[in-house]
Amino acid sequence: MTPKPDELRAVGLPAEPKDTKFVKVPSHVAIIMDGNGRWAQQRGLPRVEGHRAGTRNIRTVLQACTDFGIQVLTIYAFSTENWNRPVEEVKGLMSILMEVITEESEEMHRQGARLCHLGRTDGLSPEMCAAIHRATELTKNNTRITLNVAFNYGGRAEILDAVKRILREGVDPSELTEEKFSHYLYTGDQPDPDLVIRTASEMRLSNFLVWQAAYAEYYSTPTYWPDFGREELQKALAAYNKRERRFGRL
Ligand code: IPE
Ligand code: IPE
Ligand code: MG
Repeated sequence: MTPKPDELRAVGLPAEPKDTKFVKVPSHVAIIMDGNGRWAQQRGLPRVEGHRAGTRNIRTVLQACTDFGIQVLTIYAFSTENWNRPVEEVKGLMSILMEVITEESEEMHRQGARLCHLGRTDGLSPEMCAAIHRATELTKNNTRITLNVAFNYGGRAEILDAVKRILREGVDPSELTEEKFSHYLYTGDQPDPDLVIRTASEMRLSNFLVWQAAYAEYYSTPTYWPDFGREELQKALAAYNKRERRFGRL
């Protein structure tokens, strides 16, 4: 699955990880950050340490995306289904995510990143909601890159939320188009993801961006999320560059 250096050269791409020029740069990359638990287990550590390491990795990948000229990075941090994990794990995850929002938002702001939250706020603590609000307000005018954090996110819940808003607003059914519908999703007027990456070998969407990723290219790697760095992202972009996107045409 991973392209070899000569395969990269064959498609006119840099074989060396330090080179960052790609022919086609996806506007929007979305990542299902999976494998934190297995990463920790492999090292004999508690699962929460995997989440900690995974969270630290976000900064590296955000920086790499910015360098590569990607406009939007979406990361799947906590799904609506993840509430079904043991209470201790959910608590651990929440406290790590709370820490990261509070500590990283200033740095993201300095780097020109705009932070957006994709997901519901129901079920989140008032402190968490306030921290999300502060971070999104602080960074709302930044244009270098958008970081969407899918947190308490479910693709079906998102579609349902959009439908409810459309009904409440009394939109005329004959006026409703796919484009108009998209604006009611959490991603609003952002471009759809071009590339969906999933770490830790799994080959499923797990309720992630079910509407928006309808025509995305998919890339799966065995690497666990805490180990998915700049070079791994580069390999995914190289694979993307070899894809032919047809959108149903010939
Ligand atoms: C991804 O890692 C993080 C979240 C889902 C929050 P996992 O915790 O799913 O790691 P594995 O799949 O058990 O290895
Ligand atoms: C998907 O990972 C959700 C996130 C990465 C936040 P999971 O580990 O929860 O997905 P499943 O359970 O393997 O489908
Ligand atoms: Mg998992």
